[in-house]
Amino acid sequence: MKIQFLPKAKSQIVAFLVEENGKLPDSAKDLDEQSNGLLTEALTTGRFKGAAGQVASVVTPSSTGFNRAVLVGLGKIKDDPNSQRHATELAAGHLIKEYCCSGFESVSIHVDSSETAVSAAIGAKLAVYQYNEWFTKKKEEELPSLMETSLILEDHLGAEKDWESAGAAIEGTYLARDLVNTPPNVLYPATFAGQIKLMESLGIDVEILDEDDMSDLGMGSLLGVGQGSDKESQLAIMKWNGADSDTAPVMLVGKGVCFDTGGISLKPGEKMEEMRGDMGGAAAVTGTIKALALRKAKVNVVGIVGLVENMPDGNAIRPGDILISGSGQTIEVQNTDAEGRLVLADALWYAQEYFKPKVIVDLATLTGAILISLGHSYAGMFCNDDSLSDELFRSGQETGEKVWRLPMGEEYDKLIKSQFADMKNIGGRAAGSITAAQFLKRFIRDGVRWAHLDIAGVAWVDGEKSPTDPSWGSGFGPRLLDRWIANHYED
Ligand code: BES
Ligand code: ZN
Ligand code: ZN
Repeated sequence: MKIQFLPKAKSQIVAFLVEENGKLPDSAKDLDEQSNGLLTEALTTGRFKGAAGQVASVVTPSSTGFNRAVLVGLGKIKDDPNSQRHATELAAGHLIKEYCCSGFESVSIHVDSSETAVSAAIGAKLAVYQYNEWFTKKKEEELPSLMETSLILEDHLGAEKDWESAGAAIEGTYLARDLVNTPPNVLYPATFAGQIKLMESLGIDVEILDEDDMSDLGMGSLLGVGQGSDKESQLAIMKWNGADSDTAPVMLVGKGVCFDTGGISLKPGEKMEEMRGDMGGAAAVTGTIKALALRKAKVNVVGIVGLVENMPDGNAIRPGDILISGSGQTIEVQNTDAEGRLVLADALWYAQEYFKPKVIVDLATLTGAILISLGHSYAGMFCNDDSLSDELFRSGQETGEKVWRLPMGEEYDKLIKSQFADMKNIGGRAAGSITAAQFLKRFIRDGVRWAHLDIAGVAWVDGEKSPTDPSWGSGFGPRLLDRWIANHYED
């Protein structure tokens, strides 16, 4: 769907964002007059009050040039830019959800500032996404008809400029969604790496390491996870060089378990199919690098994703095996289902051994426990630096991809002590997300600012969803990381 910014509405549907205060916005007054007060009537009869999520539609006289006028509720607007932004995104999302497959092709939304225009455009783009790759029998009326959304405002040129960078982040979200939604027989380590390789056309440097390369480097932890699979493990390195070559990069690292059966510690069958999304961290990193390249960000960022498949097999790792990681530290595997940390251990080691990053953020669908702690609204954040956690927290509030910090400490680290090796790959039942983070911390060198985001609760959501998160895979990550980089690391 095309997004455009114009000074005057020319479309089949024209929409107005209405606060929950009983008033028709000024931008709607002309059309209200031309249609003999139909909009005022929509606001004063029935239950439409402008509450968030409410939509009231009016059939307009043909003399107005429109087929429909629509009032969309913003709810009660607080005096705070983040809640204004989210109210606008959500309202645009509700509008698009309502009209996406309506048979109408064009919609205009009146907005009062460049910032509101961009928020509405974000909401519209997020809401119109569908993953239809595998349907052969979908009916015409279930497919999107909407071809263009126009944001109507005086400063349309200013808004169009601002959209260039905001729109790039949404392209990153789309890529992350596509990757998470793609089935695991199609998206496995080599094909995921192939998708990454395609991004070279955007000016991203891509390097792919295969099993022989990683074996030469001694990456026994990552390789251990993939050894039960027929699909060859890969490490993909993406470099976006937007600043001077001597500037230390921002490093993003992602867990890319293309399917997680649990391995020999096999998962129960119920909902195992969801483990197609266990590469959500890698998808977030890949989507972010794409976004940075699309908007030609003035920053050096390296993305590294560890791509594996965790399968039970005669050659799979066993509980009791001891793996030697790239860092030289040894790991007793007590549960082959705690595989994400084994993958990240080597990816994090590689990131620090071959680059000198100024900061590292890793993203992983790491623990079911984070879902129990935080549900689907916040990713868990673990961090060795207060200023970094503040930066990420604020970027989360701004974009709506929210993170909530949990504690770390010596007392948790003790729980992964092993009697056979330097550490074991699980703690006990208690504090499962924290012991996972403590495990990762053992692969972070002194003095490196680092945050780990456990996105197991937010990378996909089944069931009731927000209109701006319409498909199974949410595409969590690129919007948060792109904003964080823009706010803190770009010239
Ligand atoms: N990929 C899972 C975590 C997960 C669970 C993500 C549910 C999304 C939804 C991870 O590899 C895993 O299986 N973790 C185990 C760790 C345990 C064995 C210590 C878990 O969370 O149960
Ligand atoms: Zn697992
Ligand atoms: Zn996993």
